[in-house]
Amino acid sequence: MNRRKFLTNAGIVSILVAGGTVWRAFDQGVFSTGEGPAYEQWKNWHVTKSNGLEGLVQSAILAASPHNTQPWLFQIVAMEIKIYIDTKRNIGAIDPFQREMFAGIGCAVENLVLAAKANGYQYILEYFPDVTNGNYAVKIKLKKDQVYTSVLYNTIPYRHTNRGPHDPVKTLTESLLNEFTMLGKNIIDTKLIWLINNNDKNRFLNLNTQATQAIIEDEAQSKSSFSWLRKSWQEIQTKKDGVTLDTTGASESLRIIAKMLPAVSRQTSDQYFFEAMQNLINITDRVGLILVRDIHNNFQRIQAGRYWQRSHLWGTTQGLAMQPVSQIPERIDREQQLKMEPYFQQELQKITKYTDWQVLLPFRVGYPVIEALASPRRETKSVII
Ligand SMILES: Cc1cc2nc3c(=O)[nH]c(=O)nc-3n(C[C@H](O)[C@H](O)[C@H](O)COP(=O)(O)O)c2cc1C
Repeated sequence: MNRRKFLTNAGIVSILVAGGTVWRAFDQGVFSTGEGPAYEQWKNWHVTKSNGLEGLVQSAILAASPHNTQPWLFQIVAMEIKIYIDTKRNIGAIDPFQREMFAGIGCAVENLVLAAKANGYQYILEYFPDVTNGNYAVKIKLKKDQVYTSVLYNTIPYRHTNRGPHDPVKTLTESLLNEFTMLGKNIIDTKLIWLINNNDKNRFLNLNTQATQAIIEDEAQSKSSFSWLRKSWQEIQTKKDGVTLDTTGASESLRIIAKMLPAVSRQTSDQYFFEAMQNLINITDRVGLILVRDIHNNFQRIQAGRYWQRSHLWGTTQGLAMQPVSQIPERIDREQQLKMEPYFQQELQKITKYTDWQVLLPFRVGYPVIEALASPRRETKSVII
């Protein structure tokens, strides 16, 4: 923290203390951001090498997942790791066809294979090895081999979703964008495109605002999303999942104030969410879209998740801020579930101009203005069955 920020925060804290609210500040973890059992997994990561295959799982659980649901279960049998989706951790009406859930599994797979190589294992991946069990997503067969440590592996504990503004002056060069595109060269059935001209980018972000409006007006979607927001320090430390105030991309002083106030209602939270999405147009440098041939294909969803995780790790090595923006695909799924007119699908297609590729994961990327903070994680042992 620099001196100016410290003094600003110290000022806010002293106002709070003077107001007799110091107890609530402790209670809400104002003085212990990123501390406590919910954040231990990030800190323990450096000792995972001595934990055998369980250590590989520890890398997997630090992956991205929709609403930080961590929708995975792992089974270690001899030299194999099996990954299952944990269907109880679906976001309901936000993800009615489990599209995001399977993408989240892909993120975990990417971390896991990076960890396998770095810990001296060769691996073979089998997708959906049991045709009678669609929840059994991936089997990883391991064999002892040479150690191959990669920069991406070493970046695993430093990757965090950054929802903050992008530097308005410094923009990602086209050669950097091409490097992202190259990252997915060997990931089949996926494609990454950039909305290079401002017109397309702004059309996309405006459509995303419309999708956000539709989500908050849809009670089931609004409730599903809200149920993964963690509103108190206590809730974060017990559940160790979900989206927290510290990861919203708000400034440090705003986060301190927000933590001190009583928890907001669903309606107020929806309003903040809408305003944040509406503001993206002012604070976003680049928009990219990860596409697949068929968004209903679970294998392709996992591949897209691997692409996202790899991109995010690589972006972290380049000092970039990255955030998925899934509101349009979430409305596309919802319209399909409710058999509504496919408005968002048609509008999105007008922007991408693809008829044979579908958007699975849109995201924004730029140079950061604020530092992204860690989100909670459940213990490795608790996700091993
Ligand atoms: C499939 C998928 C969809 C996501 N959609 C969004 C989104 O719409 N908005 C957002 O802010 N983050 C989104 N995220 C990021 C997650 O919220 C984030 O990964 C999770 O909270 C864990 O935080 P971390 O990435 O910092 O570890 C998404 C992640 C995945 C894998």
